[in-house]
Amino acid sequence: MTAPGWPASLRHGQVGLRPLRWRDASAWVEVRVRNERWLGPWEGRPESSPESSWVERNSAAVFASMLRASRREARAGRSLPFALTFEGRLVGQVTVSTVVRGAFDSASVGYWVDERVAGRGVVPTALALVADHCFREVGLHRLEACVRPENAASLRVVRKLGFREEGLHRRYLFIDGDWRDHLCFTLLREEVGRGVLRRWLVEQDQSQQSQE
Ligand SMILES: CC(C)(COP(=O)(O)OP(=O)(O)OC[C@H]1O[C@@H](n2cnc3c(N)ncnc32)[C@H](O)[C@@H]1OP(=O)(O)O)[C@@H](O)C(=O)NCCC(=O)NCCS
Repeated sequence: MTAPGWPASLRHGQVGLRPLRWRDASAWVEVRVRNERWLGPWEGRPESSPESSWVERNSAAVFASMLRASRREARAGRSLPFALTFEGRLVGQVTVSTVVRGAFDSASVGYWVDERVAGRGVVPTALALVADHCFREVGLHRLEACVRPENAASLRVVRKLGFREEGLHRRYLFIDGDWRDHLCFTLLREEVGRGVLRRWLVEQDQSQQSQE
């Protein structure tokens, strides 16, 4: 069974997106374990889940069960679980989830990247590629990203790409030991003209030229 727009591989420069695969296990465990301090404050998990360490939650066994579940969701057209690569190495994930079709044609998107490559526009580039793919190939109309008001780096990402702020979801996700408020940002297909990536690259060029 295949779903619209999946599987897919996307690329711009050194930034790549492709389906996660079994041989990503050791790279995924290495990058996740090393980034505990960087990722921990922003990652949700069920309130009822038993106490466990970060290392336990990011083991090869956890990767295997995540990959099995995400492949099942992708085949059913409910998710697009991308591995994020930079210069050919696995550095993060961009996951389109909660895909709802019919009159809604909407999905949520989440992302993370290795601190070692943060600040180089890797996630904005990846998210722009994914948004264009979702609007063109998957046929979605709306993409939503929910961000904690404290997460300055992630707020920058959605604002750079022109996501619009729609409001505050109170106590929206269980993260780092409590229910956390999230700001909801959305992007609509008709807002992005000739594409999110193209628009963002043009804006970067213009801001570079105005500085010269
Ligand atoms: C949010 C995140 C995905 C951004 O990815 P990125 O590829 O670094 O995105 P950018 O390069 O556009 O950087 C975004 C902002 O991060 C901040 N930043 C850059 N380098 C940083 C660093 N080394 N440490 C902390 N913040 C940094 C800057 O404010 C930057 O904005 P600017 O470009 O206006 O200066 C990344 O910071 C991350 O993975 N954070 C932890 C997980 C997370 O928050 N996920 C999202 C949950 S909603």
